[in-house]
Amino acid sequence: MDTLLVTGGAGFIGSNFVRLALTQGVRVINLDALTYAGSLENLKDLPNADRHVFVHGDICDRELVDALLEEHAVDTLVHFAAETHVDRSILGPEQFVRTNIHGTFSLLEAWKKAWIRAGEPAHWRFHHVSSDEVFGTLGPDDPPFCETTPYAPNSPYAASKAASDHLVRAYGVTYGLPYTITNCSNNYGPYQFPEKLIPLTVLNALEGRELPIYGDGQQIRDWLFVEDHCQAIWAVLERGAPGRTYTVGGDNQPTNLKVVQTLCALLDELVPGSRYVPHAQLIHFVADRPGHDRRYSIDVSRIGEELGWEPSESLATGLRRTVQWLLEHGSWLEAIRRQPDYQNWLNRNYDQRASQLSEGD
Ligand code: NAD
Ligand code: TYD
Repeated sequence: MDTLLVTGGAGFIGSNFVRLALTQGVRVINLDALTYAGSLENLKDLPNADRHVFVHGDICDRELVDALLEEHAVDTLVHFAAETHVDRSILGPEQFVRTNIHGTFSLLEAWKKAWIRAGEPAHWRFHHVSSDEVFGTLGPDDPPFCETTPYAPNSPYAASKAASDHLVRAYGVTYGLPYTITNCSNNYGPYQFPEKLIPLTVLNALEGRELPIYGDGQQIRDWLFVEDHCQAIWAVLERGAPGRTYTVGGDNQPTNLKVVQTLCALLDELVPGSRYVPHAQLIHFVADRPGHDRRYSIDVSRIGEELGWEPSESLATGLRRTVQWLLEHGSWLEAIRRQPDYQNWLNRNYDQRASQLSEGD
């Protein structure tokens, strides 16, 4: 690995990964369209910033990607760029098909051309960052998701990620491209856009707004601290076998309600002077997400046994670090919150939910 093209490196996980990669001595070309979810605020104070080149552009732009691969002699592509929010995929799936499916296809075509032109080097790598949501949902007694679990995506987001996984695999099998895929569980930590459960809860609680819990709040997610996910991807790039996929997770499965209650308790402790203590009084049940997956759980034995990866943060330590980070980065939160799209999104997603609930009552 010498020069990495990272797509979506101004988003949540991508920006954390760029930080990690820059400490490892590689050059990083960071291609990001700066959608509502991407921000240059996430790329301030990078280590070894002279090895980082930011390019504002779209993964669907073939000419641009062709030029970047050639100009920078890229040997490793790490593909994060995607539309990622399940609720947005329910209200507007088209952009998910464009970015996640067509965008991945377009990158694969560009990569194939560059790889063939370079004489099909065996050490090149296309790494695709994917989700556990491609596997669908688990019943209470089902075994955890693993690399051989059949795909059964339930949301337009999950279906678009599943399609992209299939394309990557097909390019590996048909054209021989060396690729790897990671299917990871829910991430949380610094720089996560506050439309996702954990940062949304903290931001709303700090402002004394309701903390929306979909349905009965008994849905279960497997949560992984973002830096542990980035370390897993790095381990796969360094030591993972081409053509192999790895499921990645944090081995903890709290209910959503429990996660929100834990965040409230952390805020009670860390912001004791707030007039919203106890923050749990702000919890508010709202209409459920259509097609809401009930439970995720991940078997991490392959990545543990083959690559020696394991998470360094427990949910307790990771949530504490996340809340502390958010409290210490008020200017980041303020900049993200000021985006015009953010308030529109809250209105669109939550006003409708409140009225659905009162209709159902
Ligand atoms: P994010 O929504 O925070 O960031 C996505 C980034 O992609 C943004 O910077 C955005 O500007 C960029 N982008 C979107 N469309 C683009 C396009 N057409 N061209 C170039 N850039 C574009 O996402 P995230 O949470 O950091 O997720 C990153 C990847 O990890 C995604 O592929 C996602 O499916 C996967 N993943 C996420 C999680 C999670 O819990 N967040 C878990 C497992 C896997
Ligand atoms: P989210 O952070 O959107 O991630 P994903 O849908 O990819 O799992 O949601 C995590 C869980 O929290 C999911 O079960 C939906 C639930 N949730 C709420 O209960 N309320 C909310 O306001 C949000 C955004 C999510």
